[in-house]
Amino acid sequence: MIQTVGLNKSFRSGWTGGRRLQAVENVSLRIAKGGTLGLIGESGCGKSTVGRLLLKLLPADEGTVLFDGADITRYTMKQMRPLRQQMQLLFQHPDSALNPRRTLLDSLLEPMKLHRLLDKEARIAKVLELLELVGLQRDIVYRYPHQISGGQVQRVVIARALTLGPKLLVLDEPTSMLDVSVQAQVIELLQHVQRQFGMTYLFISHDLELVRHMCPQIAVMHKGRIVETGNAQQLMEQPAHAYTQHLVQAFHVVRPGRTK
Ligand SMILES: Nc1ncnc2c1ncn2[C@@H]1O[C@H](COP(=O)(O)OP(=O)(O)O)[C@@H](O)[C@H]1O
Ligand SMILES: [Mg+2]
Repeated sequence: MIQTVGLNKSFRSGWTGGRRLQAVENVSLRIAKGGTLGLIGESGCGKSTVGRLLLKLLPADEGTVLFDGADITRYTMKQMRPLRQQMQLLFQHPDSALNPRRTLLDSLLEPMKLHRLLDKEARIAKVLELLELVGLQRDIVYRYPHQISGGQVQRVVIARALTLGPKLLVLDEPTSMLDVSVQAQVIELLQHVQRQFGMTYLFISHDLELVRHMCPQIAVMHKGRIVETGNAQQLMEQPAHAYTQHLVQAFHVVRPGRTK
């Protein structure tokens, strides 16, 4: 479904004296249709940058991005337009995800308007259908973001992404701002909608517990590079790279006795 080969991205950074900071280095990954790849690593290691490169929200300095068989590396904005609805980003700050001055209904309808999908009635029907799917009451649509909880905001954001029928979702720490109990519900919902629509996920997180629960395949990122990729169980039991060993060890210290 999605594949990258040798992605590089550097930023010019003020506080390193104008030198370029290599945020992402030689990142190659691939996710099969309907699959989930977990991308784990500490804050600042380049995870979000990889997600944005994948969706072409950022141009890569070097490397290739293949989406659904097409080499989209050099696609222009205009060429990307029809693909935008097929690849969506869900990110961690529920507060900034929705326009505070617009009703949830407006926010939910907006992407379909933008992409000229369906007519007005069908759009509203779609919104209502998706609200039910994400476990929200219909009458919530007349409220504003500040009138609902963080978990509800994240459900609305998921429903909004689904209005466009995406094939690929990049989930960038989608639950890191939520309470643990709400987090579990949102994760369950994400798994449910993935199965229902056969979507492909890149699941970005710094939380090994979450990643190994959610992702059969895991890529470990450290200082801009992917240092190890493998299936979750193998990675937990026999981490090959020193950094992965460190991650797994820290995980067992926090949760002694839990290996499965
Ligand atoms: N737009 C940007 N301009 C300058 N530096 C950036 C920009 N985006 C990210 N960086 C830097 O790139 C590195 C990787 O960031 P990021 O991909 O956000 O990491 P992560 O998501 O793993 O926390 C960090 O050092 C960050 O400061
Ligand atoms: Mg990030």
